[in-house]
Amino acid sequence: MTSPYDFADVDPTALAAEAAAQIAAATGVPHHDIALTLGSGWGKAAELLGEVTATIPATDIAGFSKPALAGHVGTLRSIALPNGKRVLVIGARTHFYEYRDARRVAHSVRTAAATGATTFVVTNGAGGIRESWTPGQPVLISDHINLTGATPLTGATFIDLTDLYSSRLRAIAREIDPSLDEGVYVQFPGPQYETPAEVQYAKAIGGHIVGMSTALEAIAAREAGMEILGLSLITNLAAGIQKTPLSHAEVIEAGQLAEARIAPMLASIVSRL
Ligand code: HPA
Repeated sequence: MTSPYDFADVDPTALAAEAAAQIAAATGVPHHDIALTLGSGWGKAAELLGEVTATIPATDIAGFSKPALAGHVGTLRSIALPNGKRVLVIGARTHFYEYRDARRVAHSVRTAAATGATTFVVTNGAGGIRESWTPGQPVLISDHINLTGATPLTGATFIDLTDLYSSRLRAIAREIDPSLDEGVYVQFPGPQYETPAEVQYAKAIGGHIVGMSTALEAIAAREAGMEILGLSLITNLAAGIQKTPLSHAEVIEAGQLAEARIAPMLASIVSRL
């Protein structure tokens, strides 16, 4: 993939199959069971999961582009869990704001499904609308509202999104950490943070979490038949809820401070799936 616009011309399923075959060859693992996308603040969980048997630069694999963000590791890792399951850790998320191309966003998810994964664990750093939440707190995603105006799907693909963020998997997560609250994730296109008015709008339409990823990925994961667990790390209260201006540095710092606490929790959850 040389140009960011090549995606307009490719069959996403065929490209995902090609990428999955390359991952199988590079990792020596023909089948993965679980896909795990690590967002801001969640990076340390992978090391706790089990034995990392292969680390591949994502740019070696068809359709993956360089991460736009410092602090996002552009690798794919294969991890053997103690229970024998295989996790494909995606440290190379493409955000919608990079190319305004939902199919490019969905590529890692479709590739994970093509490696055999039937469970998709998606994590992110996000803004919190609920005033009772504090930066550094992880929350479960119970549903989403997609405000990007985009979809990774093409044509008359009328897929059902009921229970998109599996209540079964949320219940498992709560067995690990009963204090986990949950909320509706609202995906904005970004890359600018929301205005306070946009945050009030998100709240009025039923949102509790604001971010710039995840919803488009979850749609692609559902289309691919995966069961989805979503977790947001609240890195800040959303614009206007928090009275001070938002900054990327603050988001990264909140992630770093929370990492030591949330990584073991995520690792425990994944080992139960
Ligand atoms: N808004 C959108 N994305 C984010 C935020 C936010 O407040 N915090 C971290 N990612």
